[in-house]
Amino acid sequence: MSNTSSYSRDYVFSTAIRVFHWLRALSIVMLVITGFYISWPFLVAYGGTDNLMQGWVRFAHLVFGFILVAITLARAYLFFFSKSDIERRSFKDLISPRMWIKVLKAYAYISKKEQTGVYNPLQFVTYFMLTMVIIVMCVTGLALHAHVYHEGMGGMLYPFAEWVVVAFGGLAPVREVHHFLTWVFVIFVVVHVYMAIFSGVRFRHNAVDSIVSGYDYHKLKKEK
Ligand code: HEM
Repeated sequence: MSNTSSYSRDYVFSTAIRVFHWLRALSIVMLVITGFYISWPFLVAYGGTDNLMQGWVRFAHLVFGFILVAITLARAYLFFFSKSDIERRSFKDLISPRMWIKVLKAYAYISKKEQTGVYNPLQFVTYFMLTMVIIVMCVTGLALHAHVYHEGMGGMLYPFAEWVVVAFGGLAPVREVHHFLTWVFVIFVVVHVYMAIFSGVRFRHNAVDSIVSGYDYHKLKKEK
């Protein structure tokens, strides 16, 4: 088997998208670890007042929480208004039944993959749903925060937090939803890493590297 195929080198992910991707990945990992620790602080025995472990973990959770809120807003702006329309173009495939069938057949090894933008319809739906979960996490997280810190940012958010508490039926349900949805991220990270590697192998392109370098490779000629 000779390796005579030519590939085009295409710039798919801008620097901002790549930096936000990894910053968001770091924030999510840190939020899951610190969040679960907040709900089960197993490292320090109960009773002492001289150990501020829980406070530091909580502080880290808030720092990464606010980073996630900022990235979520910046990323939404970039999706709609960035110069490159490579993400927005994926929407065309999302509303095309033909492209849905194509992508399902491609994943089932029945046909080749074809797509207009950077995400296929399955990816688009997955990332959209994850974004919705991130928004719920940010809203519930900010509501929890505002109920502890009544000054500064917390005070500013308090009227909004009150509305969130009423909408969820109390502060306890807000916290429960915030806790249970954490498992979505645990499951997502595992599936996401698996699918990124699978996609590179199955469709022979630069799947994982592209979110580091920004470049993807697409086959031009048929491989002999
Ligand atoms: C991927 C995103 C996030 C995950 C996975 C996450 C996870 C968690 C978990 C598991 C808890 C413990 C809940 C419990 O008591 O059982 C928690 C608490 C909390 N989270 Fe998050 N969180 C996220 C985002 C945020 C954001 C964006 C903020 C706000 C900026 C935030 C603020 C808080 C606050 C204030 C608490 C309560 C801490 C306490 O009770 O002392 N979280 N989080």
